[in-house]
Amino acid sequence: MPDRAFQQCINPKCAATYDLCQVLSECPRCGNLLDAQYDWDRLEAPDSLDWFERRWATRNNPLDFSGVWRFRELIPFAPEDQILTIGEGQTQLKRSDALAAEIGLRPGSLFLQYEGLNLSGSFKDNGMTGAFTHARMAGATRAACASTGNTSASLACFAAASGLLEAIIFVGSGKIAYGKLSQALDYGGKTIQIDGDFDDAMARVQEACKETGMYLMNSLNPFRLEGQKAIMFRVLEGLAWDPPDWIVVPGGNLGNSSAFGKAFIELHRLGLIQKVPRIAIINSTGADTLTRLVNEEGLVWNDGEVDDEVIESFYARMDAENRRAKTMASAIEINRPVNLKKALRSLDFTHGVVRAVPDQAIIDAKALVGRQGIGCEPASAASVAGARLLREEDVIGPDERVVCILTGHQLKDPNATVYYHSLPADELAEKMTDYKVKTNPFANRPIPAANDLDSILKAIEEG
Ligand code: F0G
Repeated sequence: MPDRAFQQCINPKCAATYDLCQVLSECPRCGNLLDAQYDWDRLEAPDSLDWFERRWATRNNPLDFSGVWRFRELIPFAPEDQILTIGEGQTQLKRSDALAAEIGLRPGSLFLQYEGLNLSGSFKDNGMTGAFTHARMAGATRAACASTGNTSASLACFAAASGLLEAIIFVGSGKIAYGKLSQALDYGGKTIQIDGDFDDAMARVQEACKETGMYLMNSLNPFRLEGQKAIMFRVLEGLAWDPPDWIVVPGGNLGNSSAFGKAFIELHRLGLIQKVPRIAIINSTGADTLTRLVNEEGLVWNDGEVDDEVIESFYARMDAENRRAKTMASAIEINRPVNLKKALRSLDFTHGVVRAVPDQAIIDAKALVGRQGIGCEPASAASVAGARLLREEDVIGPDERVVCILTGHQLKDPNATVYYHSLPADELAEKMTDYKVKTNPFANRPIPAANDLDSILKAIEEG
């Protein structure tokens, strides 16, 4: 259906369109980002969202089982026989009254969208199924990504499970949490450790893809973001199609926030939702490019005419001062978020806000999430720390319904969890000095005991 789905430059002044199956990571005419776009008038979208509930009855069809493709009428770029699914998106929206109370929300107001339940343990699988489907349509045989770890785990997982592509992974040296690195290696991804950080890896992978024709799997790829729209479809489904007031999401390369905004733009345009949730994007203060650009430099979408000079001079100052992102939420340790402009569009459409929270708040929020029996990695907990901050500021009201996106599983970064819970505060402060983490008020310390029953029973009772 190439005529009904195509690629289009996000800059309305350019608005150049390209064939669906072209492999592009930017607009060849003006260099801006590309969207997957649709001629909705010629497609058949259902006229209410509860229509999708019928798919549950036919979930023995892999497309109806997938948490992405059971919404395929809202992601209509691929013929069914081209869709590549490994069963992604079996995730849950969990109500948490205990956590709501912790952050000043009323019971029934806080929900956690637990994307750690994906096959590779993070939300990336939602996008990877979209990109793999497009890669198959484009006839790709080799795919590459730069990653802080989760994209690479997901790419390697899909490559291994499908046998469709060879996976080439670019990571920064020492910058990737062990759980994620272990996945890429175990799934057989060819892993190139670059002497640099994520932004360096991102720049090099784009050069390598241009040079060799490898298919780029980063979220610059518009078809990744098409898949990630499904996270919002599932949130709505979890709330019986009644949109929440807020979606709170960690911000790294800004793929999720871009995809979520596009989902709401399209659902609204199709008349499938009347109310649009506000999106809050949460940075770590150690990697706060978006926060500074929006809240200090006043950068806005401006009907698509984003002021490039503001961005360029900000990056030039960042380089001149040798300011590099540094956060223990390594997944979002990013200086130059590639989807910046699309995220501005999402903020504009949803009346969104941007905040940065310190690593101490992130790691404490992570421990509180853990206490709910839902483990997440540090970057994910930025959403909960951000919701708390916005509640303190009264930007979020006590009765508003808030969905925090937990982007990745706790086992992705076991070191962060074990340090937090087991080290005495002074040792933790020393280990985490770069991140300004000084204390661990929610630590659950392991209790040492001698190897005899009396000591063990004493430890149990008095521990
Ligand atoms: N949370 C987790 C667990 C992530 O892995 C990432 C990004 C983000 C949040 C940020 O999401 O880019 O959509 O704003 N990880 C990428 C990677 C960069 O390489 O795995 P975003």
